[in-house]
Amino acid sequence: MFFGNIMNNKFYITTPIYYANALPHIGHAYTTIAADIAARFHKLEGEKTFMLTGMDEHGAKIQEKAEDEGKTPQELVDGVSDEFKNLWSELNIEYSNFIRTTNENHKKAVQKTLQHLFDKGVIYKGEYEGLYCTGCEQFLNESDLVDGKCPDHNREPEIMKEESYMLKMEERQEELIEKIKSGEFEIYPERYKNEILSFLEGQELKDLSISRKNVSWGITLPFDETHTTYVWFDAFLNYITGLGWDGDMSNIPERWPANVHLIGKDILRVHATIWPIMLMQLGIDLPKKIFVHGHILSGGKKMSKTLGNVIGIDEMREKFGTDGTRYLLLSAGTFSDDVDITMERMIEKYNNDLANGLGNLVSRVVKLSEDLDLNESIREAIVEPAIIREQCKTDILGDTMEKMEFSKALENIWNIVRESNKKIEDTKPWELKKTDQDKFEAVMGGLVLDLFRVSQLLIPFMPETAEKIKKSLETKEREILFERIK
Ligand code: MSP
Repeated sequence: MFFGNIMNNKFYITTPIYYANALPHIGHAYTTIAADIAARFHKLEGEKTFMLTGMDEHGAKIQEKAEDEGKTPQELVDGVSDEFKNLWSELNIEYSNFIRTTNENHKKAVQKTLQHLFDKGVIYKGEYEGLYCTGCEQFLNESDLVDGKCPDHNREPEIMKEESYMLKMEERQEELIEKIKSGEFEIYPERYKNEILSFLEGQELKDLSISRKNVSWGITLPFDETHTTYVWFDAFLNYITGLGWDGDMSNIPERWPANVHLIGKDILRVHATIWPIMLMQLGIDLPKKIFVHGHILSGGKKMSKTLGNVIGIDEMREKFGTDGTRYLLLSAGTFSDDVDITMERMIEKYNNDLANGLGNLVSRVVKLSEDLDLNESIREAIVEPAIIREQCKTDILGDTMEKMEFSKALENIWNIVRESNKKIEDTKPWELKKTDQDKFEAVMGGLVLDLFRVSQLLIPFMPETAEKIKKSLETKEREILFERIK
């Protein structure tokens, strides 16, 4: 029983690896902050937690961009990867590993995987003809197009016909459908599971073209040097090579399978078809869950330079700081739906919730309790936060963190902030202090404890702020103890 618990005690979460052809933006930050919040939460729960993020650095899209900028692809991806890393450090993202698909270890593992599938006869040489969108780095069906164009990139796909190595897909289709239906391979929320099931039940999957003849910026096939690996085949394997896997089939890392692949809705279909079939063909367990979140919109529309509605992540950080940005992005709306943000609304929310709400509460409670003698139970709580956290989890967070309902979790926390501020206004402790010492101590004791609860709940969301609040309460606690000893 005991060992059972320990063995289940792991949490492995991934973000998509981001294309290294452009600088990081708010959408990338959104997914990555969310993964960080989930990872920090699970870590506090005592689970062996691993969070992976990184860069997708091969393929036509990157090659084209490097040519435009007069750089080698390697120079381009080195620069962009550094920008992402810097942003993650500024946003206080505590990743366990930052994987880059140009890492030697990753490249070797991809080649071993290809060789293994080729030897098994699951990869074979064929010819592929189809409509290819370089923006998506995917073949599209006629039915995906709107007015003959890729709806995500607003450009016409190219007709591509070339010799290509193919991965057998259809032979695993039924098995995949079963695994999704049984929940062994969970796609969450439910509506996305249904969308994928109806896609899979509606047509026979075509074999997947996994190599390119004309894209030199990629991993060469070990059995045919005139081809490079299709970028999604290369990219998906990051989820295991990011754990240090070298491609040895008999030595899959212990942390695999991932508990959650966190992705935006734009890349669901590939994650729910290509990736699980690759794994099934390899005989490796599927990830436990794909969690799909919605997109961030600005003023109701997709952000675009042409529309002039881009909200920069740097602009947010300058205005609201690291924790302010984390809070505003993840409290803006339901994580699994599209979320609309505007600078005006964020400024208003910053003022209401952070400056006047939390900020005001902290300064009032700390000031008013300056020479308050805290009772035993509060002191114990502050010294032993695990107990408080356990209570808070059941009473305040409920199952919001498991379901990644971050805005709901924050709303529940802010109810305490609002109630506490109201309690101060209603009871006027500065007057009680003069008229009724017992009541003053009771009121302030409650407020200190509630603020301490808030600080504990905020650790995953706003780590620096949580630490500052805890410190300001702890300092006071230490001073009191010190007074006693004197
Ligand atoms: N390289 C692929 C993923 C390979 S994973 C094996 C890719 N990269 S990407 O740079 O285009 O990043 C896409 C991801 O960025 C989305 O899935 C989502 O997580 C995030 N976002 C990009 N724009 C977004 C919004 N506007 N809103 C929220 N997140 C979005 O696709």
